[in-house]
Amino acid sequence: TQPLRLGIAGLGTVGAAVVGMVARRAEALSASGRTVAVTAVSARDKSRDRGLDLSGFAWFDDPVALAQSDAIDVFVELVGGAEGPAKAAVEAAIASGKHVVTANKALLARHGAALAKAAEEKGVALAYEASVAGGIPVIKAIREGLAGNAVSRVYGILNGTCNYILSRMEAEGLTFEACLKDAQALGYAEADPTFDVEGFDTAHKLAILTSLAFGVEIDADGVSVEGISAIQPLDLAMADELGYRIKLLGVAQATEAGIEQRVHPTMVAKASAIAQVMGVTNAVTVDADAVGELTLIGPGAGGKATASAVVADIADVAAGVRRPTFGRPVAALSAPRRVEMQRH
Ligand code: NDP
Ligand code: HSE
Repeated sequence: TQPLRLGIAGLGTVGAAVVGMVARRAEALSASGRTVAVTAVSARDKSRDRGLDLSGFAWFDDPVALAQSDAIDVFVELVGGAEGPAKAAVEAAIASGKHVVTANKALLARHGAALAKAAEEKGVALAYEASVAGGIPVIKAIREGLAGNAVSRVYGILNGTCNYILSRMEAEGLTFEACLKDAQALGYAEADPTFDVEGFDTAHKLAILTSLAFGVEIDADGVSVEGISAIQPLDLAMADELGYRIKLLGVAQATEAGIEQRVHPTMVAKASAIAQVMGVTNAVTVDADAVGELTLIGPGAGGKATASAVVADIADVAAGVRRPTFGRPVAALSAPRRVEMQRH
């Protein structure tokens, strides 16, 4: 069997970790019978020291050219952004018959339905485990693990940067700005951290989870969003005095009016399980009819943890696994069920 050839676009926090992990785990990744190897890469600055030996890989300045290259079978998009080169390259990869693995929740939240349809028509995979909750395999858990369940609610802490900031502000009395700076230095924050602190990143992830959990088309515009940028140390101190912590939660639940999706800072009782989730850790709770309440907790951001999810998708592609992209036959996308949103 020919090796599965990977083209990695984006060699930042996540991309560099993926290149290292594919090399380290090459033997295990070949368990399905097909060897896996990175053959080509793309980033903006070829001369930047990334702590990687890139000499064995074909270099592309342009991710679109990499996506279209005959040197790869799978296009791994780790550039970021809902529009621009990431979108153009994913579209080009699908059009030229390449499987796509991406961690780009902003892209999926905006264009996931159209990309899924294009991938289905071309018969290629569009895999995105890393797009929600970093290293927690929450996409597989909801789509495959809970396939026999009707879900009534999904909620949780979906942004590592915000939870890291709130945790350190509370525990160490640091300023919001100092904590955000550290989150950026650790590689947790988005290229534009406004997406993190204003709640949009949580909204993108929630929209993806809603689609999977409730079998509806992704509707990022239907999420009501409030972030944490206005939270002051005094808010945290007052919550503490009353026996609460403040967490940024994303919540999607079935209501009589339809599926409600909201993101906002929430007071959670200090004794509750979700209040114990500190730092960059994420937590996702699913209420489902057969299993009851199920909670997954793990690292929500960072190179290694996110690479773990990207590499899981690569392993699926190597094994020939191609799942329905958003939890239901993509053929049904032309007639989406209407989602009524309640705004708060
Ligand atoms: P970084 O900013 O660290 O890396 C982005 C990479 O993309 C860089 O290597 C950059 O090149 C490259 N790039 C940017 N623009 C272009 C362009 N026009 N042409 C070619 N290459 C380009 O981002 P992350 O690794 O943090 O994130 C990547 C993706 O993963 C995003 O979608 C993000 O939302 C998602 N994600 C990130 C997580 C994290 O913890 N960081 C967790 C889960 C998902 P250069 O290095 O030369 O500047
Ligand atoms: N910026 C995101 C976060 C990365 O902090 O959660 C993981 O998706």
